Amino acid sequence: MVTLILGLESSCDETAAAIVDGERRILAHRLAGQEAAHAPFGGVVPEIAARAHVEHLAPLVEAALADAGIGLDEVDAIAATAGPGLIGGVMVGLVTGKALALAAAKPLIAVNHLEGHALSPRLVDPTLDFPYLLLLVSGGHCQLLRVEGVGAYRRLATTIDDAAGEAFDKTAKLLGLGFPGGPAVELAARAGDPLSVPLPRPLLGSDEPHFSFAGLKSAVLRAAESGRHRPADIAASFQAAVVDCLEDRTRRALRDHAGLTALVVAGGVAANAMVRAMLEALAAEHELRFVAPPGWLCTDNAAMIAWAGVERLALGMTDPLDVPARARWPLDPGAAVARGAGVKA
Ligand code: KG4
Ligand code: ZN
Repeated sequence: MVTLILGLESSCDETAAAIVDGERRILAHRLAGQEAAHAPFGGVVPEIAARAHVEHLAPLVEAALADAGIGLDEVDAIAATAGPGLIGGVMVGLVTGKALALAAAKPLIAVNHLEGHALSPRLVDPTLDFPYLLLLVSGGHCQLLRVEGVGAYRRLATTIDDAAGEAFDKTAKLLGLGFPGGPAVELAARAGDPLSVPLPRPLLGSDEPHFSFAGLKSAVLRAAESGRHRPADIAASFQAAVVDCLEDRTRRALRDHAGLTALVVAGGVAANAMVRAMLEALAAEHELRFVAPPGWLCTDNAAMIAWAGVERLALGMTDPLDVPARARWPLDPGAAVARGAGVKA
């Protein structure tokens, strides 16, 4: 019998339910975004997000089961994001997962959202083996991880201030391009000149392995306020600066890491075409395979949570019903603290 997993995701502003099987078939994948609810505030409002998850999750689960043509009693386990993320939303998804697991007498798998992103490339590429180097770039995180196996992650670098996606979102806000910012900046950048606005590339060439985007963000603010540049030129120059930083830091990580099978990217910013093209070239230069999930699997979704559930269940990794929801939950608890006041887990 092929394993069937129901996955739930609610850690930020997407509510999602999906059903994935052990043969990598995505039988159902439902998602309710909340852009319209948060747009007036220019960012995700935690209370609004939690309430929206409560409204959307149960109908999404029902729809996903209907799409897959199965009943809850036919799934082998329920995998729910248990953190890290906005705690109200995480609690909604995890409690729903616990209730379904209890009602159907199925095991619960508490999935780290970052592990969902980290393993998502294996959902689309059956030949992707451990260990691989993962650039995880999302709205809340910017990390380089050596993925050694399910549950075995070594963090090589993290941001000492902002995440890359956060920088895209703030740039979009400054330029009046709307929310969420990443896709809007990417679109605006197409009509701009990436060489027109001189912007800093924080930590470029540094021996320290980490990322930093706060200085770039301040420079974008000054460029926007000067009134001397077209928004499209600022967007293009900003995107080029982010791509340069991601390239330099990934190159730095590749320098000391032997035995890798592939260079992999995941997280919302991985949907960016310039970021993908840069990483593809970098992988080729290092004679590594490059694996990037399709855009919809890079941004938050429940298929990646269900897939992490498939991988975990195969190893007998299930969780008790009193497993806690966690706002912070580093993938590599042993990683040294990076310098800087605004360090994210
Ligand atoms: O992984 P994700 O959906 O949610 C988090 O776990 O954070 O990532 C969302 C982030 C947002 O900051 C969004 O602006 C960014 O990914 N993003 C992009 C693009 N699409 C989404 N950034 C750059 N270019 C894109 N095309
Ligand atoms: Zn995410």
